[in-house]
Amino acid sequence: MTLQFSLGSAAPATVDSACVLVGVYEQGVLTSAAAQLDSAAGGMIKRQVESGDISGKAGSTTVLFAPAGVAAQRVLVVGLGAQKSFDAARYQKVNIEAARALGRLPVANAVSYLSEVEVPGRDSAWRVRIAALACDHAAYRYTATFKPRDKSKQTELAALTFAAGTDAQGGLDQAVAIAEGVRFARELANLPPNICNPAYIAAQAQAFAEAQGKVSCSVLDEAAMAKLGFGSLLAVARGSVNKPRLIALEYKGGHDGAKPYALVGKGVTFDSGGISLKPGAGMEEMKFDMGGAAGVLGAFVAAVKMGLKLNLVCVVPAVENMPDGDSYRPSDVLTSLSGLTIEVLNTDAEGRLILCDALTYAAQTYQPQALVDAATLTGACVIALGKHATGLMSKHDDLAAELLAAGEETLDRAWRLPLWDDYQAQLESGFADVANIGGKSAGAITAGCFLSRFTDGQRWAHLDIAGTAWEEGRKGLATGRPVALLAQWLLDRSEQ
Ligand code: BES
Ligand code: MN
Ligand code: ZN
Repeated sequence: MTLQFSLGSAAPATVDSACVLVGVYEQGVLTSAAAQLDSAAGGMIKRQVESGDISGKAGSTTVLFAPAGVAAQRVLVVGLGAQKSFDAARYQKVNIEAARALGRLPVANAVSYLSEVEVPGRDSAWRVRIAALACDHAAYRYTATFKPRDKSKQTELAALTFAAGTDAQGGLDQAVAIAEGVRFARELANLPPNICNPAYIAAQAQAFAEAQGKVSCSVLDEAAMAKLGFGSLLAVARGSVNKPRLIALEYKGGHDGAKPYALVGKGVTFDSGGISLKPGAGMEEMKFDMGGAAGVLGAFVAAVKMGLKLNLVCVVPAVENMPDGDSYRPSDVLTSLSGLTIEVLNTDAEGRLILCDALTYAAQTYQPQALVDAATLTGACVIALGKHATGLMSKHDDLAAELLAAGEETLDRAWRLPLWDDYQAQLESGFADVANIGGKSAGAITAGCFLSRFTDGQRWAHLDIAGTAWEEGRKGLATGRPVALLAQWLLDRSEQ
């Protein structure tokens, strides 16, 4: 069941709902909605601030049940932190925490006045969009392969209204489309690799294309790729019985003949490391190694759902990286689709080996006006930027600026790393045109440098989402990043 969103403008004290959400800053500063409820309820919120029950600390939540003088059954008071430092990132954070708290309550519907909170430099369409995406994110449950254990909570949130005028409708419509893309990406990435293998991803892409107009899907199998010369991708795939696919989705929302934007996403449905086998601890997380594929497919879904006026293609190389008697091995020399030869020094640096052929294919087939890839490419990127920022690499300052801006706008943020030629020397090989690893230092950048060798003449950028695609821990779920960033970037490129 998907959460239904709407806009409303009823007064907080009289609105008939299972729960109303209002914000309170630190130091007892009430937002206008909180002040209205407080006076309707005879000073109840202020008294709880004085008693210390409501701190106003950013993201804190307090439930008031059946307060007298208030039509709603409950009030959820959400802490906003200090008013003078309130900003966009805090706005997103408090909406996420509010949505989580709401999810724990037995309520089927709610009205949020958090969307009225002033955010410097942002309008109400932006506020509604961020709030709706935060709530949809919090409402997502992974249940595909088990029965949810928590049966105690009978009532699920089904409808959520944001306090805002009709000028925010566009923002809400965008949120609904982007949320669908985010859910598509998260579900695909969360599925285990014995279900979500290359053929499964291809089937999902095909199913989406069939359900839509204006979208077509083509899938190349191993034999078709062999004919075309995908020597690098096919080497990675060889060790697995789950045969590779090259998936291409095309959407025509723009003029006939207008050059498309192209997205390419790393689709390693499980990365064991291959012959350069990974350590056992944490290997299960490598089911998320198709997070780039999920992300670009999700962005594609969002773009189609928004009906963007542009042409878009999405290319997904999907493989499984496994050790086997027929696996590719360290010291193998591969001939890529581009013709460049590659010396394999580590079979665990497989992402770049499938991406190089996919990037070549996308460039040759579509001559895109911009080419952006997303990949859970390097552990080094997680060391450099942690779990908060996606690593962005590009030689094109204008394209990098567009993507960084889209990340800021959606708070799905990226941070740029240099792609200077100085780093290219680390990829030298005595046996091929390029080696597939660049040594210990600057691992995220040398991976980007490797890809850059296959994107000559393209307006290309690379997103390393190794740190941002999923949440760590046993119950960690896929985040759906960078769907919002990419969807925003495309929205900004689309003709209005
Ligand atoms: N999929 C991994 C990167 C990764 C590691 C993502 C940890 C998220 C968390 C990738 O295929 C890989 O194994 N990269 C190697 C590259 C190395 C062999 C040069 C890595 O990062 O260790
Ligand atoms: Mn690997
Ligand atoms: Zn990998």
